[in-house]
Amino acid sequence: TPRPVLMSGMQPSAESLHIGNYVGALLSWKAMQATHETFFMLADLHAITVPQDPRELRENTRRTVAQYIAAGIDPAQSTLFVQSHVAAHAELAWVLNTITGFGEASRMTQFKDKSAKQGSDGASVGLFTYPILQAGDILLYNAAEVPVGEDQRQHVELTRDLATRFNSRFGDTFVVPEAYILKETAKIYDLQNPSSKMSKSAESHAGVIWMLDEPAVTQKKIMRAVTDADGGIVFDPATKPGVSNLLSIFSVMSGQSIPSLESEFTGRGYGDLKKALAEVVVETLAPMRERALELLADPAELDRILSAAADRANEVADATLATVYERVGF
Ligand code: ADP
Ligand code: NA
Repeated sequence: TPRPVLMSGMQPSAESLHIGNYVGALLSWKAMQATHETFFMLADLHAITVPQDPRELRENTRRTVAQYIAAGIDPAQSTLFVQSHVAAHAELAWVLNTITGFGEASRMTQFKDKSAKQGSDGASVGLFTYPILQAGDILLYNAAEVPVGEDQRQHVELTRDLATRFNSRFGDTFVVPEAYILKETAKIYDLQNPSSKMSKSAESHAGVIWMLDEPAVTQKKIMRAVTDADGGIVFDPATKPGVSNLLSIFSVMSGQSIPSLESEFTGRGYGDLKKALAEVVVETLAPMRERALELLADPAELDRILSAAADRANEVADATLATVYERVGF
């Protein structure tokens, strides 16, 4: 029997992966490569729905790909491809545009948030139809399940509505996907602001650890992490969010349980905990950072990887699109 499909998209960005992404997403995806047919897409068509610098976009796409590979997305097991290399995304989006109601598209709450940030020039029509492009991304690969965060739930609902509508109007064509929340993994919080999750959108990056940070920078960020005046090394997120966050990171990266860390550090100070944690984090990130830098220094190798992935993605996507075109009367 064919393996279930996992399809996930990510935005190319200059900073790319932080340890929150690594713990919250990459570790699960890495594991799912063995049980699922996995497609990971660098969403560059989505990236241009807000103004972009062409040179930066090209570079960010490559940096992001390199980091995903370095973090364990294996091009031999996963199709890690760039969206613009697969023309069917834009083509299916057009067809889906024609079966989406204007009012239906207008109800997407994310557009309201994002367009408000576009200032006096206003938002593009591309930003408005972004969820329709996203629906096509999912439907092209026959994904039965789509891993989503709460903010993406409405877009998966739209995808389901469009797939169902198309199927009933033109005949069974699309798999209607279900949204599912990825298995609960440790949530990592900002080291400077442990009540907020670590995020690339944080106002300051002083509490965000990037995969490409130099070891000395990682160490400094951990040594400066916010803790509390109480002094005890115990896991209690409600009253000790800073220390609890350090323990979570320690536990995920070392494989040691939180209770065993608590007893190991009983009677010791925050400085000791931070120093030991910095070592573990640097040790985990160093090989990934090295691999990412190696890939970035070898553009021909990266191009070979992306071109093989595009071939595979095109094969699946073109088959879906051919059925769609036939069904609509082309
Ligand atoms: P960011 O908030 O930095 O923009 P994304 O929203 O792009 O991150 O998240 C990409 C993936 O990484 C999602 O699956 C999300 O659940 C996971 N993730 C992001 N930040 C964290 C975090 N701080 N802790 C755990 N998982 C996270
Ligand atoms: Na985000």
